[in-house]
Amino acid sequence: MSVNPIYEKLTSCVEAVRARTDFVPKVAIVLGSGLGDYAKQIRVETEVSYADIPGFPVSTVPGHAGKFIFGYVGDVPVVCMKGRVHYYEGYAISDVVIPIRLMKLLGAEILFLTNAAGGVNTSFHAGDLMLIRDHIAAFAPNPLIGPNVDELGTRFPDMSEVYDRKLSQIILDTAQEYDVYLQEGVYTQMTGPSYESPADVKMLRVLGCDAVGMSTVVEAIAARHCGMRICGISCISNLAAGLSPNPLNHKEVQEAADKAAPKFQKLVTESVKKFA
Ligand code: HPA
Repeated sequence: MSVNPIYEKLTSCVEAVRARTDFVPKVAIVLGSGLGDYAKQIRVETEVSYADIPGFPVSTVPGHAGKFIFGYVGDVPVVCMKGRVHYYEGYAISDVVIPIRLMKLLGAEILFLTNAAGGVNTSFHAGDLMLIRDHIAAFAPNPLIGPNVDELGTRFPDMSEVYDRKLSQIILDTAQEYDVYLQEGVYTQMTGPSYESPADVKMLRVLGCDAVGMSTVVEAIAARHCGMRICGISCISNLAAGLSPNPLNHKEVQEAADKAAPKFQKLVTESVKKFA
C-alpha cells in the first residue's frame, strides 16, 4: 500500500516534537491574533518552536510568532499554540491543518479554538466575546480535500455537531460565573487577506453568520475528522465592513483584541480547568 504523503509529513512532525518532549496534553488551545500573552496563564513545562519542526508551517504575519507551549492550566495538561498559519499566507490547505492533527497525535482530545473576528450581527460591539455555536464552511477550502488520511478518520465525516455541546455549556456557565458577557453565534471563515466588502458582510448576515474571520473553520473540520471534541470563542475586534464608518486595519484589530484579552484569558483558563 502506498503511504499517504500528508500522513508521512505529519508523522515526521510528531517525531520532531517527540525528540524534544514526551509531554502528553489533554487540551489543545489555539490562540488568535492579538489575544494577549496567554502563556502567563500556563504553568509551563517546555516549549517547542515551530521552526524546529521540519515541514511545519511557519507564520509570516507580524504578531503571530510561532511555538508550542506545553504545560498545565490548573491540573489540566495543555498544549497551547502561540501563533497559527492562515490559508492566505499561501500554504496548501493540508499544511494549514498540520498543527491540529499533530496536537491530536500528541494526545490532545479537546481543541479550544480562539480568533479575532469581525462582528456581522448588528447587535454585537467591538470587544464582545462570542461562543462559536456553528460555522459556515462554504467560503473556505475544505482541508480534507485529497486522499483521505485513513489513519485519522473517515472520508465523509459528519459535521452535525462540530462544536461540542457539553464543552460549550461549560464555557457559558463559566462566563456567567465570572461575569463575562458572552454572545453566541455562527462563525464564517473567508480566505482573506483582504477584509470583506460591505456587500460581502450583508450577504453573510443574510446567510445567518454572526462573526467573520480568516481562520478556525478549516481547523475545526480537521479536528472533527480526527475525532477531537471542539469548542471556540471569537473576540469581536471590530464591526465588519459597512457597519462602522471607519475603514479596517490590522493594527486596530489587534489592539481591540488586546483590550479584551484579560476577560478572554479568564474565560479560557477557568473553562479549561473544568475540562479535566
Ligand atoms: N473580517 C475578517 N477577519 C477579521 C475581521 C474582519 O472584520 N476582524 C478580525 N479578523
